[in-house]
Amino acid sequence: MLSVGDFRKLCDVIYRRTGIKIDLKRYDILKPKLEKVLTQFGYSDFRSFFHDFRFEKNPALIQEILNTVTINETYFFREKYQFETLISEVLPRLHQLRPTGEPIRILCAPSSTGEEPYSIALSLLDEGRLLDARDFELVGIDIDSVAIAKARAGIYTPRSVQHVPPHLLQQYFIQRTDGRYELVDFLKGVVNFQVVNVMDRQAMRRLGRFDVIFCRNMLIYFDEISRREVAMTFYELLKPQGAVFLGHAESMNRIVSVFRTVRSGETIYYVKE
Ligand SMILES: C[S@@+](CC[C@H](N)C(=O)[O-])C[C@H]1O[C@@H](n2cnc3c(N)ncnc32)[C@H](O)[C@@H]1O
Repeated sequence: MLSVGDFRKLCDVIYRRTGIKIDLKRYDILKPKLEKVLTQFGYSDFRSFFHDFRFEKNPALIQEILNTVTINETYFFREKYQFETLISEVLPRLHQLRPTGEPIRILCAPSSTGEEPYSIALSLLDEGRLLDARDFELVGIDIDSVAIAKARAGIYTPRSVQHVPPHLLQQYFIQRTDGRYELVDFLKGVVNFQVVNVMDRQAMRRLGRFDVIFCRNMLIYFDEISRREVAMTFYELLKPQGAVFLGHAESMNRIVSVFRTVRSGETIYYVKE
């Protein structure tokens, strides 16, 4: 049902809507999955599906297609040194700068299935003093509604939690009879998860302003124009002296020049002056 030409057309619309550049090499893997979605939604030919997709006739169809093409790979304490720099350097500095009583707001865009914002929450709990001194708000967004549902459920495979320090695993997870690990209830409630497209500037603005933004391992799937758009949205959303963390394969200097680069040990982060 889905030829290479159809796939190209579909990828083009997805790119314009989300910034995601889908490699043509993924055709063989994605073809059966996408065809399954088309069948589920009652389409027997690409033309009628594509008409409805392009003209946004069915939000549930659009969401299902996006859920199919996203790559959600993540795990707890991925690039752990970044969380250490956040806790030892970036948050103490922001704590000094911000008026007492004002919460420090941290955004994970994208959060995928939640491991990243929960790793920040666990790092804050482990350190303890910052949490005693002020409130923090954690927001996690992703375009993939299935990933966000999993983040809210807070149930993880042994592989996903393998880098969680043992004392934190012991204290904040319950091992289930199926071998998976479930976060304790209060932790599930500390992150506000939402389905949001980072390319949708209005929706991003509605999230409010932030002190820290984690944007790791998403921009690698974007092209230069979309990366720039997202970087400028983050610049707008960040409060002065706020910081952005990117994945280790990503560099803000290759995207925009509005941030000051800070190197601290292995970590690089970008500050809005
Ligand atoms: C590889 S995961 C990265 C997760 C986490 N930040 C990490 O580094 O472990 C990439 C995520 O980006 C999300 N994504 C892709 N395009 C997006 C967009 N336009 N808006 C929001 N999320 C998007 C995907 O759904 C996927 O869950």
